[in-house]
Amino acid sequence: MPRKKITIVGAGNVGATAAHWAAAKELGDIVLVDIVEGVPQGKALDLREAGPVELFDANIVGTNRYEDTADSDLVIITAGIARKPGMSRDDLQKTNAEIVKTVAEQAVKFSPNAVFIVVSNPLDVMAYVTLKVTGLPHERVVGMAGILDTARYRTFIAMELGISVEDIQALVLGGHGDDMVPLVSYTTISGVPLSHFLSKEKIDALVQRTRDGGIEIVNYLKTGSAYYAPSAAAIQMAEAILKDKKRLLPCSAYLQGEFGLTDLYCGVPVILGENGVERIVEVPLTEEEHKALQLSAEHVRANIAKLAL
Ligand code: NAI
Ligand code: 2OP
Repeated sequence: MPRKKITIVGAGNVGATAAHWAAAKELGDIVLVDIVEGVPQGKALDLREAGPVELFDANIVGTNRYEDTADSDLVIITAGIARKPGMSRDDLQKTNAEIVKTVAEQAVKFSPNAVFIVVSNPLDVMAYVTLKVTGLPHERVVGMAGILDTARYRTFIAMELGISVEDIQALVLGGHGDDMVPLVSYTTISGVPLSHFLSKEKIDALVQRTRDGGIEIVNYLKTGSAYYAPSAAAIQMAEAILKDKKRLLPCSAYLQGEFGLTDLYCGVPVILGENGVERIVEVPLTEEEHKALQLSAEHVRANIAKLAL
């Protein structure tokens, strides 16, 4: 099998940590790109030098030139500013839209056949920007958020119940914002509904903590936002695509009528394989969940309307 080539744009906290997970999993050769000279080169060489210790085989290079990214199978966009205490993800929109626009235009020029995973915030809007500026088929532009939000939800449930995270199945849909939609009706512990274990009040509190999951980390770190779980989530998507695994995962996908939503990105269950988003799985929702999804999507739509593309 030919070696896969993965470009990660943005060699900051999320980008560099994503490179780490990808190298450890030997998903392919990695090109780390950043606008700052020296940082991607230094981090890439440092990570490559971990190979003989951790015994992974991956060529990792750092660069400031898109020529070096040519013919990538996958491009992961993490470039942009991250929020600090007191900021919402929406506060990043103006700056990050400019950055993501430039990055996506350059990256697609050299890798027109790649699948693009977008991570920069506000996530659903940045995925939309990437779709529009690259002109790629919508299946090949997908946003990372739902896996992270679901991982947080699963973590909080595991902590509350004292049960392994491995046995907790869940789905968080909607935009990657304060009104994301954890689906309580699909939350089980090895098939047993969550409501068997916890009262409605306890479940509501876990749902709220999930919605606040990003800011909880920002308030601890003060200088930036979360990156271990976000990068792990992006690399789970990368693995599903590069290995054509056909995994069912919550991702931000371009919608054309699914769940009653059109011409926007929003977190929904998708089948992820070598072609990117191969299918959107329209799971039935309760009336309350359906309403919450529409509200969350409206928030994304309002932000898309502010874009000047
Ligand atoms: P960071 O500040 O550590 O890294 C960002 C990197 O982007 C920096 O190294 C910076 O030099 C680089 N950059 C800026 N402009 C660039 C350009 N034009 N070309 C190439 N590189 C450029 O930030 P971090 O923590 O890595 O977060 C990155 C982004 O990901 C933020 O927007 C953050 O909000 C978002 N994020 C999204 C998550 C999600 O669930 N979708 C989760 C975590 C972070
Ligand atoms: C998070 O949820 C910052 O969106 C990022 O941690």
